[in-house]
Amino acid sequence: MYNMKCIGVLTSGGDAPGMNAAIRAVTRTAIFNNLQVKAIYRGYKGLITNEIVPFQTESVSNIIQHGGTIIKTARCVEFRTPEGRKQAYDNLVKGGIDGLVVIGGDGTFTGARIFAQEFNFPIVGIPGTIDNDLYGTDTTIGYDTALNTIVEAVDKIRDTASSHERLFLVEVMGRDAGFLALYGALASGAEAAIIPEIVTEVDQLEQLIQHGFRKSKNSSIVLVSESEITGGAMGIANRLKEKGYNPHVTILGHIQRGGSPTANDRILASRIGVAAVDALLDEQRSIMIGIVNNEIVHVPFNKAIKDEKPVDKYMFDVLRLLSI
Ligand code: F6P
Repeated sequence: MYNMKCIGVLTSGGDAPGMNAAIRAVTRTAIFNNLQVKAIYRGYKGLITNEIVPFQTESVSNIIQHGGTIIKTARCVEFRTPEGRKQAYDNLVKGGIDGLVVIGGDGTFTGARIFAQEFNFPIVGIPGTIDNDLYGTDTTIGYDTALNTIVEAVDKIRDTASSHERLFLVEVMGRDAGFLALYGALASGAEAAIIPEIVTEVDQLEQLIQHGFRKSKNSSIVLVSESEITGGAMGIANRLKEKGYNPHVTILGHIQRGGSPTANDRILASRIGVAAVDALLDEQRSIMIGIVNNEIVHVPFNKAIKDEKPVDKYMFDVLRLLSI
């Protein structure tokens, strides 16, 4: 039985809307439980360079509505080395931190898992990534906001697509996961989604486009996941050009990561933030807090990182059916 007195919180990897709501929930739950809280700036990088700042309840006032992360984030190469991790551990000890909440995606949890093993250090993870690609949770913080940003953008693109009778390929994020493309397409009424999990040949796409044009439609919008597997929107556009089409490409890029989090993301982040501190107090370690069927679950880092989170193929069929 250990007596936890001070917890650290950090955000790492790509920022996601709702991370601030999670930082707020972690800070206030810890204080409510008479723990000290220390924010570690710039993720694992700040742990190595000792950018550690004590937080009070007012440190997290007025942040729930903001995108990004007030404690900054980074992708840290040094933390992949044993020397970097040792330095990080020394700073944790020096700062009197005896438990850590890390907010991020699979890269963040991969680092956390190795670190927790090496130094027998209690770490709990909060899934914060727009990609929704973590196994063991139905959704991740930031995904809902990014999805809504995509829908808003595609609604606007549709005005031009329809007025000029054009074919648009809209590239969305997701690294190697197709959730944003598939569900973004469903929600915006796009004709198709090209995602890494399901092979779509250009011939098949051509069929879909022809089908769309042939019927009552004068324009088409196809969402494409950025990925080496799909070739991205530019790759597909080049192949379609060879077949005589004139597609227009829009790459949504980092607008998908920004903006005020939706109510769903704020609520999710608040629930998971509270559960993360509760888990640390309950002597849980090396787990990610997830949400399945609206219930909080504990998922070992190992599973969250390594197991594949499949897309629901049925939703792909629904998209096809509704695009006729
Ligand atoms: O993991 C979130 C994400 O936005 C991915 O969808 C994307 O592939 C990647 O991060 C981009 O990272 P960066 O902002 O470092 O270029």
